[in-house]
Amino acid sequence: MHKIDWDLGSAELGDFSHFMEKEIFEQPNALENAMRGRFSEDGSTAHFGGLRMTPQELRQIDRIVLCACGSAWHACLVAETLIEKFARIPVEVEYASEFRYGNAPLDKNTLVFVISQSGETQDTLAALRESKRKGFKTLAICNVVGSTIAREADGGIYQHSGPEIGVASTKAFTSQICIAAMLALYLGRMRDLSYDKGVRFVEALKQLPSQIKDVINQHEKIKSIAHKYINVHNFLFLGRQSLFPIALEGALKLKEVSYIHAEGYPSAEMKHGPIAMINPEFPSFFLATQKTLFQKVVSNMQEIHARKGPVIALISEGLEVPPGIADDIINIPSVHEAVQPILATVVLQLFAYYIALERGCDVDKPRNLAKSVTVE
Ligand code: M6R
Repeated sequence: MHKIDWDLGSAELGDFSHFMEKEIFEQPNALENAMRGRFSEDGSTAHFGGLRMTPQELRQIDRIVLCACGSAWHACLVAETLIEKFARIPVEVEYASEFRYGNAPLDKNTLVFVISQSGETQDTLAALRESKRKGFKTLAICNVVGSTIAREADGGIYQHSGPEIGVASTKAFTSQICIAAMLALYLGRMRDLSYDKGVRFVEALKQLPSQIKDVINQHEKIKSIAHKYINVHNFLFLGRQSLFPIALEGALKLKEVSYIHAEGYPSAEMKHGPIAMINPEFPSFFLATQKTLFQKVVSNMQEIHARKGPVIALISEGLEVPPGIADDIINIPSVHEAVQPILATVVLQLFAYYIALERGCDVDKPRNLAKSVTVE
């Protein structure tokens, strides 16, 4: 017997037109649920009930391998940047579909983590089973309680996102990143992340639900920007560090729901090839919210602008793009670097949703896609 932690209303549309829209708007709540009861009393770290590993065992880990598919694989890439930065543990990210056909040398203190919303993705399950067969400790971040991956992993963290019905992952993806950030904090505080930095990190996470609401409140503005691009055939999404995986996710979301071809690249990498394709019909969406990298990203924007490519810039409050470079600018609150990927994602989800809607696409059931890929 499994008691589910959501009611029937969560699986109904209510006042929304599509599940994708509903699930984007549900994110403040989904993230509250992902964080509930998971911060320490002194407010400086996170903890998780289901890891089934003692702090002593977790201290022994000197390498983490993260495996997943699709959006969950992008969540792994965000986790990699956060865990390496805040916990200083080397992380490798593998496509689950490739993992068992390779022969990555893993030493005995390697922890294998898989991420899966459904807990039923065949490739991810196969990677988990292969790791277990080799004798590795395996953990999972999973949304669906009692799913195969949740049952077979040695331990794990439930997302508590509620049912995600739209085929394009939205609230489950941001919940996965939120949990990855909490994990980076938890592992970091076991190592050399200071109490003060831990407190700041926790405060930043706790503010997320209201900041997501602020971003969602800009939906009319995002819709009107989206309207300008409904007829393009290509889109480039660019971001650096933890925002590079969000560029990949923005491209995937747009492809899935609107069938516009899109690619994600590290901002500076576009000059090593993709820039050849830039023209007035090929827009670029820059994720430029990081203060420390801002000037570098602005110079990348200038390169695109000089080739007459339209530029959309997502920036944090307090930053300014020099006049004339960006065609459209969207502001998000200035937040801790660990949570920027989540706010940036919400903007890209809304952008993809509104473009797809105007193009008349079936956003909840895109062609050729299933919610859970249970074949190899
Ligand atoms: O259920 P999972 O998280 O294991 O699913 C993985 C991918 O199939 C999934 O994220 C897919 O890429 C979505 N359609 C993305 O929106």
